[in-house]
Amino acid sequence: MPDRIWWPRPDASGQYVLIDRVQTPKRWLKAVYLLRTPLITQIDDGAVPPDGPASGNFTSSISCITVVIEMLRHLAPAPGDKVLEIGTGTGYNTALLARRTGPGTVTSLEIDRTIADQARQRLHAMGVRARVLTADGEQGDPTGAPFDRIVCTASVRRIPPAWLRQLRPGGVLVAPLDSPAGHDITVRMTGTGPGAAAGRPVATVEFMRLRGQRTARPHTDLGWPADIDAQRWRDYEVHADQHGQRILLRRNRSES
Ligand SMILES: C[S@@+](CC[C@H](N)C(=O)[O-])C[C@H]1O[C@@H](n2cnc3c(N)ncnc32)[C@H](O)[C@@H]1O
Repeated sequence: MPDRIWWPRPDASGQYVLIDRVQTPKRWLKAVYLLRTPLITQIDDGAVPPDGPASGNFTSSISCITVVIEMLRHLAPAPGDKVLEIGTGTGYNTALLARRTGPGTVTSLEIDRTIADQARQRLHAMGVRARVLTADGEQGDPTGAPFDRIVCTASVRRIPPAWLRQLRPGGVLVAPLDSPAGHDITVRMTGTGPGAAAGRPVATVEFMRLRGQRTARPHTDLGWPADIDAQRWRDYEVHADQHGQRILLRRNRSES
């Protein structure tokens, strides 16, 4: 955990309060052990230094621990699996993954150089052997492919084709996907063949977007049906390949 983090809800003046490990150690400790609160580690792509209360857009965080654990549960990596993580952030999730799959099995990609450098140092100091690369995670890591597991801890509007190419058939991909339901959905997909995967939503979440996917696009251009039943988000299925993605309402059992 970084020594300085912002509390994610604004105070009365509309600013996010900075919690400093050295100045307020008890408060910092209490915050970092909360299970259901994300903590903000970067605002406006680093334009705001972590030296006081701030406002702006959250661009890096340590996600809620409950969400991290739930995503890992759906990813279900086994010892020895080769894992690609997109969005290293603090390196917290990278450390959990490496603990499970073993030394040298995890490659984590972080687009922000400062954040990547800090995570690398932090993991090294803890004795965690994982590769942290400063790179645009949308391109994945072609040199390390194929991967048994791919997990992204930022949300996407479209599953990047590179991830589908780099997921081995039968491998598992877990990522938050923007949806027209007013929230992101965590999708768990299985590699179905070269460059393709299919799966289902497993949870509703809120994540910051991958940098290259911040601009909104009509959901119908992203494979969503024109009308979705937001209450039935669990009943959709997601298919993605090199040509795009399609999200369809599953036929229920009595129909099939
Ligand atoms: C919610 S944070 C990740 C939290 C992290 N897993 C942890 O345990 O601390 C999302 C991260 O994704 C990074 N990110 C955004 N776009 C990216 C991209 N195209 N490639 C790689 N990382 C990206 C952000 O810089 C940010 O650090």
